[in-house]
This record gives sequence, C-alpha cells and structure tokens, in this order.
Amino acid sequence: MNDTTSASLNDPAYELDRAYVFHSWSAQAALTPLVIAGGQGSRVWDYDGRSYLDFSSQLVNVNIGHQHPAVTQAIIDQAGTLATVAPSAANLMRGEAAKRIVDRAPARFNKVFFTNGGADAIENAIRLARLHTGRDKVLSSYRSYHGNTGAAIVATGDWRRIPNEFARGHVHFFGPYLYRSEFWATTPEQESERALRHLERVIQSEGPTTIAAVLLESIPGTAGVLVPPPGYLAGVRALCDRYGILLILDEVMAGFGRTGRWFAFEGYDVTPDLIAFAKGVNSGYVPTGGVIISESIANDFETTVFPGGLTYSGHPLAMASIVAALDAMENEGIVANAARIGRDRLAPGLAALQEKHQIIGEVRGEGVFWALELVADQGTRAPLSGVVMGRIKTELLARNLLPFLADNRIHVVPPCVVTDDEVAEALAIYDEVLGLDLLA
Ligand SMILES: Cc1ncc(COP(=O)(O)O)c(C=O)c1O
Repeated sequence: MNDTTSASLNDPAYELDRAYVFHSWSAQAALTPLVIAGGQGSRVWDYDGRSYLDFSSQLVNVNIGHQHPAVTQAIIDQAGTLATVAPSAANLMRGEAAKRIVDRAPARFNKVFFTNGGADAIENAIRLARLHTGRDKVLSSYRSYHGNTGAAIVATGDWRRIPNEFARGHVHFFGPYLYRSEFWATTPEQESERALRHLERVIQSEGPTTIAAVLLESIPGTAGVLVPPPGYLAGVRALCDRYGILLILDEVMAGFGRTGRWFAFEGYDVTPDLIAFAKGVNSGYVPTGGVIISESIANDFETTVFPGGLTYSGHPLAMASIVAALDAMENEGIVANAARIGRDRLAPGLAALQEKHQIIGEVRGEGVFWALELVADQGTRAPLSGVVMGRIKTELLARNLLPFLADNRIHVVPPCVVTDDEVAEALAIYDEVLGLDLLA
C-alpha cells in the first residue's frame, strides 16, 4: 500500500495548484488535491505513474471512460477543421449533435438549445418554462443540486443555496426518501403517496397559477442517488397536468447511460416538457450541456424572439465530441454495459457488502449509479460523522481507489465502460476498508 500524499508533495502540478488555483466549494487552505495527469478507461494516474481505479467518474460525468480514442480523435479532427464558430452560424457538427440527442428523446421533443454546462442548461430550462407559461415560480426539491448560477443555485436545495439566494420565485419541497422519511412512511408506496400529497399541498398553498414549473432530478444524484419510489414521477407529472405546470427533468447527472438507459426517466413512466442535460452527453471532454425542448414550447419561439444566448452555444469541439461519444456509446454497447454491470455485479455485490458490514445502512441505485448510506448506528440511522468519512476516503485512496464521497455516503459511480474485473477489484477494496475499525 502506498502513502496517499507523498507522491504529490514535490510535484509541480501540486505546487502550482496550491499557489495559484482557487477551487470550488472549499476553504482553500484546507485543500490537498489529488494530482491527476492522465487516464484510460476506468483508471487515472499521477505524474509518478501511481494509478487509481476511478469509481467517481470525476464528478460523475466521465460515462464513456477516460480518453476514449474516438472522442479524442473527433476533437482533434474538428480542431483542425474549425476550432470555433459563432452560435448564429449553421455548422454540420452542431446539427448532427442536436439530431442525435433529439432522436434519443421522447417523440414530443424536437429542438436542442446548447449551453456551456449543466447549470446554464437549468437556467435556460427555467427561462423557457417561465416564458411559455407566463408564470414565475419554480418548485424544486430540498434534496437536489442543479448548478452554480443565478436561478440554478437557488433552485438547488442543499446547503450551497443558502449563501447564494439572490434569485426570486423559488420554492422548495421534500421529495421521497424512505430511509429518512419526512412523512413517517414505512413502505415505498406510502412514501410515494405521501410525498405527492405534500407536493400537491405546496402547489395549492403557493397558488397553482403562479407556478411555471416543477424542476426535479429524475434521480437526485449528489443528494444521495435517491431512486424514486413506484409512481412518484408519474404522480408529479399528473399533478403538473392538473395545475397547468411544466415538468423540467434534470438529467445532467443521471442521463446518457448512467442508469443503464439513455435517460433515467425512461424507467419511471414519465415524459417531461423540458430536459436539461450535460455531463454524460460527451463525458465532459469539452464543456457542454443543453436543454431538449418539446415541440409545443419550441413553437413559441418561431415568431417570437428567444431572449437568451451564449457565445459558446454549440461550440464545434463540444459538438464533435458529442457526436463521437454518442456513436461510440451506441456502437460499443456502453449503455447496455452499464445496465448489465448494475444488474449482475453492483446490485448483488453491494447487497453482499451490506449483509456483512453494519456500517452500511442502505444501498440504493441502478446501472452505474449507486450510493452506500453509512451509519454510526443501524437502529437510530445516525449518519456516519465527517471525521470517519475522512478516514474512509484516506483508506480507499491508499488502496488506489478514487471514491466519490458526499456527506455520509460513498457513491459508487464508475464509468459506464467499467469491466467485471474492475468492479470485483473495487468491491474487494470497499469490503476491506468498511471492515476496518473505523469508529475507533
Ligand atoms: C443534477 C445536476 N444538475 C446540474 C448540475 C450542474 O452542472 P454543471 O456543474 O455542469 O454546471 C449538476 C452538477 O453536478 C448536477 O449533478
């Protein structure tokens, strides 16, 4: 086993980072960033050649794995042809990318507005919903993350909203989460029914005619891979229809293969009005995202000006990487691999870990999108402390597994290309670490 930090300390990448780079969501002085120099598939490595099994997919975005040759080559080729172009121009790669995305969406969708990432996809989905309905309010879940821009961060439910509340018209509600039910529910069906009743009461109390949209992550990701209980998303759709409210589904993290489907919502008998995407669409090789727009909303802007735009909307390097990534995912069965790995390897493997380790309170997920909820006490379900989570992170890194940790959870989120052997390797590492005397 290697020491986790010694490789980094005299590394110029580390030194320059600490001297000049200002990082997201952090007190800067406390940071000791891992140095990552290269990667391939489900592995990354530092400049000294020490490699890690990447069970984070970075920020749960590298769905196609690191350095997929078709995607990197498409970016190189496009850079040689036309490295940038105005958003107002027609460009073949942009059209090809938009067509591939629309082709995978339900029939009611016909246009894509491209953005620079996920947050501005949410920003523009909210704008479209407000313009289409002539209403103002947006309802979203406390257990959510929607991005770090004006409306997206205020639509977000978690702690990151609180220092940033400068946008108006946002109201929050509780979504279903049976393990820590807000509704005293004891079954998934009860949780679903009561969460829907709560949402309907919030809608009625806010005044239905003031509400433009309900915005939900199809499967809340950073909040804990909160797989919706039976009937919940279909029930939200029914409430939206009853009150003339649009449904925006945020597929930024859950979309493009992570659940073993192109879109996570396909598993839940629901069709939204607007879909926000980013991350997995091109695995983040070039920053991009967008909104898939249903025909009835897109039609509003046939003769009326859409009041929104970005210099890099539909950037050709991003578009080329989308085309190559979606084609490779299709041709190489990468989405099907995520489904198979989830069903045959992660579901039974993580359930076996739960049987063995008292520290695991709940296992949730599908495809390559899982969370282990860790508790200090099975009876009270008290979350594991930040100190112990820190120890777990150190121990996993020491065994060359790059984890994704959030609050008291390990999110098990490898690339969709992960192999059976890599899953077995990771499960053995989780098993070893969770078996340590961590609470001492
Ligand atoms: C569900 C969800 N929506 C939106 C975002 C924001 O995306 P970005 O960081 O690309 O702006 C994220 C990022 O993690 C996300 O997980």
